Amino acid sequence: MMFTIKFKIILAYTIVFGIMLIIFAAIIYDTTKEASFLKLNTNLKSYSISLRTEIEDELDDRDSLNLKKLSSIHAKGLIGEKFQLFNSNGEALVRDSVLSKIPMPEIKNEAVNSFKYQRQKIDHHKYHILWSKFDADNDSVYMLETATSVKDVFDELDRLFYLFLIIIPSGLIITGVAAYIISKAAFKPIAQMADTAKNISGENLDQRLDLPKAKDEVRAFGETLNEMIGRIDNAFKSQKRFVANASHEIKTPLTVIQTELEILDKKIKDVESKESIKNALSEIESLTRLTNSLLMIAKMDSMQNKLIISKFRIDELLADCAQALNTAALKKNIQINLLIADAIEIQGDKEKLKSVFLNLIDNAIKYSSDNSIISIVLEKISVEKVKINIEDSGRGISSSEIPYIFNRFYRSNEIRAEISGSGLGLAIAKEITELHKGEIKVKSEPGVKTVFSIILPQNLFALR
Ligand SMILES: Nc1ncnc2c1ncn2[C@@H]1O[C@H](COP(=O)(O)OP(=O)(O)O)[C@@H](O)[C@H]1O
Ligand SMILES: [Mg+2]
Repeated sequence: MMFTIKFKIILAYTIVFGIMLIIFAAIIYDTTKEASFLKLNTNLKSYSISLRTEIEDELDDRDSLNLKKLSSIHAKGLIGEKFQLFNSNGEALVRDSVLSKIPMPEIKNEAVNSFKYQRQKIDHHKYHILWSKFDADNDSVYMLETATSVKDVFDELDRLFYLFLIIIPSGLIITGVAAYIISKAAFKPIAQMADTAKNISGENLDQRLDLPKAKDEVRAFGETLNEMIGRIDNAFKSQKRFVANASHEIKTPLTVIQTELEILDKKIKDVESKESIKNALSEIESLTRLTNSLLMIAKMDSMQNKLIISKFRIDELLADCAQALNTAALKKNIQINLLIADAIEIQGDKEKLKSVFLNLIDNAIKYSSDNSIISIVLEKISVEKVKINIEDSGRGISSSEIPYIFNRFYRSNEIRAEISGSGLGLAIAKEITELHKGEIKVKSEPGVKTVFSIILPQNLFALR
């Protein structure tokens, strides 16, 4: 779940945006720093020039300096600016208590009228210093040293830095949240389609995925899937139609063969031939059962399977079913016990319910060993409901198989070769029971016993 596409999109968005923010911040920081220093130096230079002009004036007039006037000169944009003045011998004419802490610049090699910038730390404070060498009209050379603290600039830059420290993480959080919201919205239709798709199976291929309204890639994908489901649906339908038609076509000749064999059986006296006819008839019977099962399934699929409801005694129906399969049971020396206390009338489709019970009893006989007992129990479990249990003590069904036994054509692998069958009996039983608004359940202890239970409402009309 951690590395879903959604998560990757959020991560990618956030990383890309984060990198962009950092680059952007670095550029702003650097540009601001450059611009501030440039401004500082320009101001320092104009300060130096104003000082020098005043100094030249004063030296011209009186050959002496008016210190008071000099220190009253201020530069715009500078705070705490200071200066020192030296003559050509390197003697200080004007001294500053801070600037005197650093060595006097070497002026001999500097060109006259040149400026030289330097950044230096004095008492843990950074200063921008500008040295300017000039000659006054009295032909002597002077060195003017001007300086200003850069603390303000760094304070400003620090403020900018802390601002970015707040802006960048909050920007990242906002991007992450936005990416989450956007990607969640983008993936919502996919999740919805996946939900619907999970419920589409062979039984409800007429269903389609809900498509998002926006005409986007997701919708196009959904449309493609829907078209695919449509094609599968058609393929299933034509396959089912084929099975229905084929079973229908087989039924008539089967009936004819059966009738003819029965006539033949009456005419023939020879014991060996009679035995052959009996075997052939028994095979035809199982073929007829398979054909009927297939037809039943086909009818259910085409929704023609309306119940033909009547009122009848279910205890009698169960006795009939047990009777019908008694011959098969006796062949394995299996005893069928009917445990029915009362006469119970129910409403339902008698023929279809009969095929349910025949299927269940047939299974009980088929999957039991010789000389065992099968019991059929009918009881009223509430005012409205009856329960029929069909219990055998045969091989049983392992718990891993139970989820599949009601699927069409499912047969246990172990018995496939040994015992004949179509795998349709339980599927039909379940569908008919559910058409009656009832339920079918199974409990099995492999090798000990298996109980199929059917719970039916007694009065179907009352439910509708
Ligand atoms: N009473 C039973 N005892 C053991 N296994 C059973 C029983 N009833 C059904 N089964 C298992 O369920 C499968 C499906 O049953 P069914 O749909 O009637 O098909 P079929 O009987 O044609 O194989 C069987 O193949 C068998 O493995
Ligand atoms: Mg069966």
